[in-house]
Amino acid sequence: MTTIEAVRLIGPGVDRVDGPLKVTGSAPYPGDFSFANMAHAVLVRATVAAGRIRRIEAAAAEAAPGVLAVITHRNAPKLERGPDTPAWRQPPPPLQDNRILHYGQYIGVVVAETAEQATAAARLIETDYEPTEPLLDLDDPRAEVLTNPWGLDAHRGDLAAGLASADVTVEATYTTPDETNNPMGLFATVAFWDGDSLTVHDSNQWPHGVRATLAAAFGVPESGVRVLTPFVGGGFGAGLRVWPHVVLTALAARTAGRPVKLVLTRPQMFTGIGHRTRTVQHIRLGADRSGHLTALDHEAKASITVEDETYEPVAADSATAYACPNADTRDSQARLNIPNPTFMRAPGEAQGNFALESALDELAYAIGLDPLELRLRNYAEDHPQLGLPWSSKALRACYEQGAERFGWWSRNPRPGSMRDGSWLVGYGMAGVSFFWIQMPCQASASIRRDGTAFMRSAATDIGTGTYTVMTQLSAELLGLRLDQVRFGLGDTDMPMAPPAGGSGLTAALGNAVQAACRKVIQAFLDTVADDPGSPLRGCRLDDVTVADGRIHHINEPARGEAYSDILARHGLDELTADGDSAPPKAQDVGMAPAGAFAARFVEVRVDPDLGLVQVARVVSAIDGGRILNEKTATSQIIGATVGGIGMALLEETVTDPATGRIANANLGDYLVPVNADVPGLEVLFVGEPDRFNPIGVKGVGEIGLVGMAAAIANAVFHATGRRIRSLPITIDRLL
Ligand code: MOS
Repeated sequence: MTTIEAVRLIGPGVDRVDGPLKVTGSAPYPGDFSFANMAHAVLVRATVAAGRIRRIEAAAAEAAPGVLAVITHRNAPKLERGPDTPAWRQPPPPLQDNRILHYGQYIGVVVAETAEQATAAARLIETDYEPTEPLLDLDDPRAEVLTNPWGLDAHRGDLAAGLASADVTVEATYTTPDETNNPMGLFATVAFWDGDSLTVHDSNQWPHGVRATLAAAFGVPESGVRVLTPFVGGGFGAGLRVWPHVVLTALAARTAGRPVKLVLTRPQMFTGIGHRTRTVQHIRLGADRSGHLTALDHEAKASITVEDETYEPVAADSATAYACPNADTRDSQARLNIPNPTFMRAPGEAQGNFALESALDELAYAIGLDPLELRLRNYAEDHPQLGLPWSSKALRACYEQGAERFGWWSRNPRPGSMRDGSWLVGYGMAGVSFFWIQMPCQASASIRRDGTAFMRSAATDIGTGTYTVMTQLSAELLGLRLDQVRFGLGDTDMPMAPPAGGSGLTAALGNAVQAACRKVIQAFLDTVADDPGSPLRGCRLDDVTVADGRIHHINEPARGEAYSDILARHGLDELTADGDSAPPKAQDVGMAPAGAFAARFVEVRVDPDLGLVQVARVVSAIDGGRILNEKTATSQIIGATVGGIGMALLEETVTDPATGRIANANLGDYLVPVNADVPGLEVLFVGEPDRFNPIGVKGVGEIGLVGMAAAIANAVFHATGRRIRSLPITIDRLL
């Protein structure tokens, strides 16, 4: 059988198998579904950030043309909260009382024959509030602060002693703003009931999570709820939690007794599907004269809404990034009257890496050491917390090959010393050690008499290339051509899959696919076990391999037969097998499972008169383990790098400090990079297949964003001598 030793590190960059459907507009996104007799729902949002609803009057809306139902907390049924997941809770269910916890909270839903009628009627709802002073500032002394919310705070060695023994210390505070995920596709839900059975087309990153939450909300069995997400117009984490609008669409459909469609507006996308929370981070580093760290202290405070829980460790990953004997990390969250946050591409890590890698740059200048050399001197050969060898770690190769490709060593270390005409030129870099996550997953494999395979698992492809890489992997494992394999996903009638999140889906799903492929080949061997007409009679899985739609003896291609011949002779239409994957415990296998690693090298140009910053070029060297498809993996890194440029220079969700209203809740005022902001981006994949993971992959969905903010800030310092510790690096901060 195929083993990872036999595969190339970098798989062929085949085009997306779903590309033709997408470019011809025939890929069915959730909002594209319509049904006979379908009604439309529109949400009504609170216009204060804290307090209570004193009175809400729906009579005029109910009497408006086309209106079928108006649901508020006064007539909504009791809805249960969705079940907890291993790492996070689902948001509380909507419309359960008259409390207002944030501006934009849903206070009602209007169902009408058309979306226009529902929108018009929603404006007729009258609401009187009893407002209270909202908690909007991280440092508001009234805000409850959760310390060590995930039990991940690290204490290694003796921090005070490490600081006391340092020759050089650096201490600084860094801040990052609220940011909004902003997938292009407006999140949409289409729901209809048949008795107690519910079918939902929905934009999300985890159909089984949606199913479990809807089943809990309405007290119906999960088996009666089907969630379909074959395509989704992006997520960046926004689709990992199950949001109130999904529950409200199902409630609207139940109340109206008809299929109901709800499409969020862009402003609602800023308050209703999460955001990356702002942070304030304090870092202290100590080192000896030669640049060896003696102390690393990282304290981070983020925000969380008044009544919710999220998983967003900001400081925690700093404990495992470098080989420092004395390290403390502490995370906390302040409860504010803000919309419910969520994961946003590289949650926690993106913000934490900015602070740590900026502080290391400051330390390098304080010592008089090259910033890359400082990272190499503190390279963590083993996992600093577990004391185990990494399952793979090619970060040193990332540094070396990235620096070589970028031309790092031609850099004049003195800030402000490099110019191109009137522009100041700066080189900056950052290291990245991404966290590891892998959840259990299931997949099924069927091989049919026509020689084709149908693979499936209820995962999602959020634009990452899941359809494509799983088709490639299946074809390779079954010895079929790409066009003989169809991969189905995004349907809870398929085997359970974990969220497309934490950069962990490709590993989890790929391992389940490998298991299913092995089992279906075993099913063929079982079928011919006593078949005197089969050259494979009596073969074990380890005796055979697959190619060209056939199973044959290893090293003897002639001694074998085609899947279709076996099925035909035995009168079978197909054979099917289920596979699953679950990662072992690190201690059991004696190695620390490694996420991806990266080194980012950035050149910026700064106009000293205008404070303009342009990213001139980026080299990203990535250790993602085995890369299944060079093209889609490169696209992942490029797309996330653009997100990183946005984080560094543009993105900031602005909350009005008086009212808690988001002031720039649209894509005209919330700035993201456009083509003119994005230079040539070079991506190198280095390393080798990961040892922890049977198919050798580590996942590259998020790492492309991480490190960009620090590398750009460090390059801006190199260009100008100005250290910007608050994102985004805007003109006003630089002038
Ligand atoms: Mo990612 S924030 O885990 O979609």
